[in-house]
Amino acid sequence: MQRKDEIDFLELLKNPVRLFGLSYFYFLTVAGFIGAYYIWNMNDVSKNGIAPVLLRDSAQFVQDIPMQRGAMFAPVIVAEVGRPSKALIDKGANLFKANCVSCHGDNGMGDGLSAASMTVKPRNFHSAQGWKNGRKVANMYKTLQEGIVQNGMQSFSYLPASDRFALIHYMRTFANDFPVDSLTDLQDLEKTYNLSKGSQLAPQIPVKLAMVKLQKESAADSIYVGKLAVSIGSKNQGEQGAVLVRQLTNNSTKLFTAALSMKEKSLDEFIGTVSVDPVSVGFKPAVVRLSREEWNVLYLYLSKVSKEKKS
Ligand code: HEC
Repeated sequence: MQRKDEIDFLELLKNPVRLFGLSYFYFLTVAGFIGAYYIWNMNDVSKNGIAPVLLRDSAQFVQDIPMQRGAMFAPVIVAEVGRPSKALIDKGANLFKANCVSCHGDNGMGDGLSAASMTVKPRNFHSAQGWKNGRKVANMYKTLQEGIVQNGMQSFSYLPASDRFALIHYMRTFANDFPVDSLTDLQDLEKTYNLSKGSQLAPQIPVKLAMVKLQKESAADSIYVGKLAVSIGSKNQGEQGAVLVRQLTNNSTKLFTAALSMKEKSLDEFIGTVSVDPVSVGFKPAVVRLSREEWNVLYLYLSKVSKEKKS
């Protein structure tokens, strides 16, 4: 085979595969540049441009319960408020505007302003779809009492029962296929929540605040207990109760701590609690042999010192 000294470019065009031999250098250079570019920018290349999905730390999203005054709710007669009336519906409309439209929307379509950001969408009251507790009055009452808290439907147990019935009857105007409660349904509702007796709304304070208060209280308690223990030990206390405590304790700190927590107990409860396991509350086992009169002296003395702490 004859070798050619010069490249015959015309030949090359006719047989382009041969070009590869030349383009090799071209590709090598380009690859070299890309490689160099990659290495120079290694730090950035490896950066992830997509924002990482942070797992929610649920502890940060826990909503504390609101501060709330205790209240007594007027009793309601379920057989009456369980059935719709114009007055109830009108009242319900106002309450709905004030409390529910932010999620459920002006027209109860589940399209309120806050709905957009919620994973579980607020119920659309025009539709029979997806109801968790159900659409009867009694079911809806349960929803308002307990909420479906995990999905963003809060409890409205702080609204008086009559207001909740008003809300329910208003919501039930959004569609005309709401099931009607039988008399038994309403009676069961009455039984479950004792509505004819009125209900007591326990006062509550936010958990965080309660913790702080408890800590303060228990710190104050332990200082006070320390003082008591010392004063008992110093034997200046000639009081009969103090004498008994001195005789019968093997751990006065424990004893006074227990006494402070027994503030509201009656004499019999006190005897009962201590006798079950005297040592665990700072007494010697011999305490169980006290006469009732001596128990009473002991009891009165401990109640007195724990009351002194309170004031
Ligand atoms: C913070 C948003 C929010 C507010 C405010 C709110 N809701 Fe809801 N509600 C929801 C969500 C979310 C659901 C759906 C829960 C589910 O599907 O688990 C729901 C569901 C319901 C349901 C249907 C329960 C069932 O059986 O499925 C009723 C009834 C209801 N809400 C009534 C009310 C009333 C009455 C008010 C006002 C007093 C109110 N909601 C205020 C978010 C809200």
